[in-house]
Amino acid sequence: MNVYRAETIEAVRAALQPRRHQTRIGFVPTMGALHAGHARLIETARRECGCVVVSIFVNPLQFDRADDLARYPRTLDEDLALCDALGVDVAFVPAAGEIYPVEPECTVDIGRLGEHLCGRGRPGHFRGVATVVLKLFAIVGPDTAYFGEKDAQQLAIVRRLVADFNLPISIAGVPTVREPDGLALSSRNRRLDACGRRQAVSLYAALQHARASIARGATDPHTIAAEAAAVIPGGENLRLEYLELVDPNTMQPVPRVDGPVLAAGALWVGDTRLIDNVMCDPARAGG
Ligand code: PAF
Repeated sequence: MNVYRAETIEAVRAALQPRRHQTRIGFVPTMGALHAGHARLIETARRECGCVVVSIFVNPLQFDRADDLARYPRTLDEDLALCDALGVDVAFVPAAGEIYPVEPECTVDIGRLGEHLCGRGRPGHFRGVATVVLKLFAIVGPDTAYFGEKDAQQLAIVRRLVADFNLPISIAGVPTVREPDGLALSSRNRRLDACGRRQAVSLYAALQHARASIARGATDPHTIAAEAAAVIPGGENLRLEYLELVDPNTMQPVPRVDGPVLAAGALWVGDTRLIDNVMCDPARAGG
């Protein structure tokens, strides 16, 4: 393997030191279980930067449930092989004790950006995300960091983190990669059985319904969301946690759709929680 595996902060900093100021450092933070969505992030970084760093770290601070953390898929050997195949220079694979030698006293307060969508159902989740992202930025010191648009609320929080803390890092959002039927790629999809996999695509269908309503001129967010939610079939195995229309920058619900909005949802398929979103623009034909 050509990819250099760094397990300590010291090792990753030492590996990047000679490259810094000579080339752009592109950074893709991940929790592993890499799939084609991550590959798209890495390929984008590879095209734009002379040196590409991928971190693989399942961050305990962002899990609100111990069972979810325990069951999060871990596929390190395959992940490293993919990084190698995609020409990643450095894979940063720290143990939990390297990132959190002691429980942190100082964490990032993400304010109103975490009030809705996933922030409401997963208390403390985005505080954990923003805290580890800030730490990883401080360790890697990238020029550009790449995040998937599937995690739209996370992306909005990271953009705001960088702006509010004056970090000299550009944040690149990379479009969601989907299966042919529309299901957004996610590390959690591998937990679905065949029936759950068929049901899972109903979240995307519901979001597309919202998008079509907006394209036809609908403006009341509650009606749009309720009609979209009705697309999801009833049944014991499916539970819609939320489907909301929010401002794409502030992540606050809109009182009326009179500009671009993000339709975002979270669906439980059995005990697997999936999220997705689509941008809806009433000014553009087709939403
Ligand atoms: O999107 C993820 O995989 C994680 O939230 C991130 C950004 C790597 C932080 O742990």
